[in-house]
Amino acid sequence: MEIVILPTAAEVGHIAAAKIAGLVTRKPDAVLGLATGSSPLAIYAELAILARSGEVDFSRARGFALDEYVGLPVEHPQSYASVIRTEVTQPLGMDAALVRVPDGLAPDLAAACEEYERAIASVGGIDLQILGIGANGHVGFNEPSSSFQSRTRIKTLAPQTRADNARFFGSPDEVPTHCVTQGLGTILDAGELVMVAQGANKADAVARAVEGPISSRCPGSILQWHRRATVIVDEAAAAGLELAAYYRYTYENKPDWQRWI
Ligand code: F6R
Repeated sequence: MEIVILPTAAEVGHIAAAKIAGLVTRKPDAVLGLATGSSPLAIYAELAILARSGEVDFSRARGFALDEYVGLPVEHPQSYASVIRTEVTQPLGMDAALVRVPDGLAPDLAAACEEYERAIASVGGIDLQILGIGANGHVGFNEPSSSFQSRTRIKTLAPQTRADNARFFGSPDEVPTHCVTQGLGTILDAGELVMVAQGANKADAVARAVEGPISSRCPGSILQWHRRATVIVDEAAAAGLELAAYYRYTYENKPDWQRWI
């Protein structure tokens, strides 16, 4: 696992975007796993600039959102279908037909989850999964106690997650109680994981994910198990890392052949 600590949240977005842009340049039809929430917004804003300037062409890139609320109409501004359309597909110039979001309104949710897994498999899997992390350590909406082998399925959102996400809604009660999320097993199958976190309220979750025991108590700790995981955080989110000085040292002394920016 590579841990990159950067001075500001803006730089987190910049460096993570550079990694993703590099992949799409090398492989124009790359399959991206798309997180929503506030953490990746700076990444998408940077990628949109690269798309507008013609530096990177996302028109053939494919995408699978990490998760979706259950029961929220697709046209609701906080449905992840809406967020993916307004923050990702449109600004990056992706082909909407090549970008999928789990169906949180399917009459048979379990069948829809299985179909989502088949759709990911049918394109050869996700090349690069973008991740944020919840204050309670969740990745996707895999809340604490999620199985490491879990696949896309329905989950109950933890009360803390609903409270944290209330800022996107009019009131806490409007946050749906359930979601559909790629499983930890689905996430582990991606070729590469890039997790971003900004701000002091993520410091504890980042420390537990990066340096704590690998445990479903902190689902983000699965990154330690992945062959190619990069964690990009700002100083505030890095505040709980015991080995921060070592991570800074390795990043500063990275050999040229290992650089991705
Ligand atoms: C969103 C997702 C979640 C968020 C996490 C952090 O698709 O999967 O795991 O990444 O809840 O949310 P923010 O970024 O809003 O702090």
